[in-house]
Amino acid sequence: MNRKLYAMLGLLLILSLALAGCPAPAPGGGAEQPAAATPAEGAAAGAEATPAEGAAAPAEGVVVRAMLGAVSRDFDTAAVEYCAKETGYQIEVVNGPDSATDRLALYLQFFGAQSPDIDIMQTDVIWPGILAEHLVDLTPYVGDAIGDYFPAIIQNNTVDGALVGIPWFTDAGLLYYRTDLLEKYGYDAPPTTWAELEEMATAIQEGERAEGNPDFWGYVWQGAAYEGLTCDALEWQVSWGGGQIVEPDGTISINNEQAAASFDMAAGWVDRISPPGVVSYMEEDARGVWQAGNAAFMRNWPYAYALGNAEDSVIKDKFGVVPLPKGEGPDARNADTLGGWQMAVSRYSSNVDAAAQQGEKR
Ligand code: GLC
Repeated sequence: MNRKLYAMLGLLLILSLALAGCPAPAPGGGAEQPAAATPAEGAAAGAEATPAEGAAAPAEGVVVRAMLGAVSRDFDTAAVEYCAKETGYQIEVVNGPDSATDRLALYLQFFGAQSPDIDIMQTDVIWPGILAEHLVDLTPYVGDAIGDYFPAIIQNNTVDGALVGIPWFTDAGLLYYRTDLLEKYGYDAPPTTWAELEEMATAIQEGERAEGNPDFWGYVWQGAAYEGLTCDALEWQVSWGGGQIVEPDGTISINNEQAAASFDMAAGWVDRISPPGVVSYMEEDARGVWQAGNAAFMRNWPYAYALGNAEDSVIKDKFGVVPLPKGEGPDARNADTLGGWQMAVSRYSSNVDAAAQQGEKR
């Protein structure tokens, strides 16, 4: 089964068992595994899962609220429909803010108020430590399927022994480029250095504008002051051999010429090959320009790939993706930040509380 769907389904099953009054999991995931482990095992073995088996019929009229966000938009709908079909629950998707930074702030507000309004939430790969105290330990529910995931992401999502998020999907920064325009302007391969990108972006932008599209830009990316810019900026810095801010041995490497050169390079794009407004762009702003056919290059996460190839997309089948380009200097290299999202269950969900109480009674 598709793992993305599986992750969400797994969480819904937890809630479904909770509502059905199943025993709360034994602390530390001991022998008393809840029945939710059954579908997990099936999935791990690659069997066609029958997840609803073993789970009691869902309580009528229960609505599970899931807060999701922009970068999963290409597969939200499928996941939600699938889970609703398999569990019988109504899933209400609450769209969180597109900005990862704002979403974290909102979650912290919900948690601060111990609000039961959100049951399941998408959590960023960088948040487990910040949010752990508010999230349910999913270890006992995942069961043996834990071995089906990359150990590194399980380790990332484990805080003080508690698994506070089931990996949903991973993210890596990518360079999107228009294959048709590269060909039109005589380039036989996408850029491998930032200097090449600047040169191609400039030529294509000039050409497209001369042909009557004043809205055309060379390169769009994430320039607003939020987590997305942190990702882009770290990629520039590392690609120029300027270090990664905090090195594995704890030394700080931001204050060096290569890092400075990388930031100067990006600043120089604004209002030249990138729109002046790029300094307030997040993922969806960049994708809006790109998917309207108004950019030669875009930096974005993988979610933009399927959306760009949608039936009604004007750039369908006209673009490709490659690693982000390198900077200059002896330590220059391709670099992309790794992101990604997990599914987590709030401790303040009334559904999970019900499970815990039922377990105690037994
Ligand atoms: C994507 C990444 C996430 C990152 C965010 C920044 O959603 O998956 O890890 O923090 O972009 O905007």
